[in-house]
Amino acid sequence: MSFPERRMRRLRTTPVLRRLVAEHRLSVDDLVAPLFVKEGIDAPEPVASMPGVMQHTQESLRKEVRSLADLGVPGVILFGVPAQKDGRGSQADDPNGVVQVALRNLRDEVGDGLVLMADDCLDEYTDHGHCGILTESGEVDNDATLERYASIAVAQADAGAGVVAPSGMMDGQVAAIRRALDSAGHTSTAILAYAAKYASALYGPFRDAAECAPRFGDRRSYQMDAANAREAADEIALDVAEGADMVMVKPALAYLDVIAAVRAQVNVPVAAYHVSGEYAMVKAAAQLGWIDGTAVALEHLLAIKRAGADFVLTYFARDLAELLAS
Ligand code: PBG
Repeated sequence: MSFPERRMRRLRTTPVLRRLVAEHRLSVDDLVAPLFVKEGIDAPEPVASMPGVMQHTQESLRKEVRSLADLGVPGVILFGVPAQKDGRGSQADDPNGVVQVALRNLRDEVGDGLVLMADDCLDEYTDHGHCGILTESGEVDNDATLERYASIAVAQADAGAGVVAPSGMMDGQVAAIRRALDSAGHTSTAILAYAAKYASALYGPFRDAAECAPRFGDRRSYQMDAANAREAADEIALDVAEGADMVMVKPALAYLDVIAAVRAQVNVPVAAYHVSGEYAMVKAAAQLGWIDGTAVALEHLLAIKRAGADFVLTYFARDLAELLAS
């Protein structure tokens, strides 16, 4: 090789040099832990398709969140598994619903030491498993659902949520929630919009954990088609115009192009959700001894940041926080 050709390997010679020139870094500050809390159980129940993930009791949730806060994890997002489900998902906005109880407990436990987020959706609470109110013919009624999301957001904010995260992909959900929060005096409660959420086969394990698989049909009439990237730009623009404080792309790895485009499109923080199926694939292959699970998890998370995400919702939050702290 002849002068003055640049040798790319020069800056890769030592770990400390590689560290110095790294373009992106993963830190505990990037992590939000999704957590499940279930009503009517005496002990936490492991989720078979997500090794290491639990359906928590109120007590075990409290301990888990305390320990995540102590590790420096800045946020958690809560999903509830209620004891009773019905057509309108009544437990979702009941002041004594499982997530509202959890929010009050956790606010008491960690104060402002950690951002408490709540998923604002109906699928965990409806007996049919869809994310909205159904019409007589079994379709998801957009506008009837908006009223429910607005009411859920207010119940969650009343209980102590700092951030509400609508995940149902109804049109107008961010505007409806913003209006309701403001009228209830919750002007400081932020909205993290699941803005570009795709109808993905990667949500399977989550539906075990949250017990929310649709009883009939699928979610393709409200979630996005994997074929579409330009459409994500419209979803994002609408949500920001409606008042979203932060936007999310979900899932993450199969949609890195979308994350990068969204990062270039808007100035609000961009989140990505490394979803249950992405987690389960890594865990399963690692359990078989086929990959180094921790190394792959780090590579996944770094790729999501490199694509442009500011923070990542991931079931690896605890493992990675422990690793990054050591
Ligand atoms: C809907 C919701 C889902 C997820 C988060 N919020 C499931 C769905 O849309 O079917 C999936 C998250 C994951 O797979 O980790 N409330």
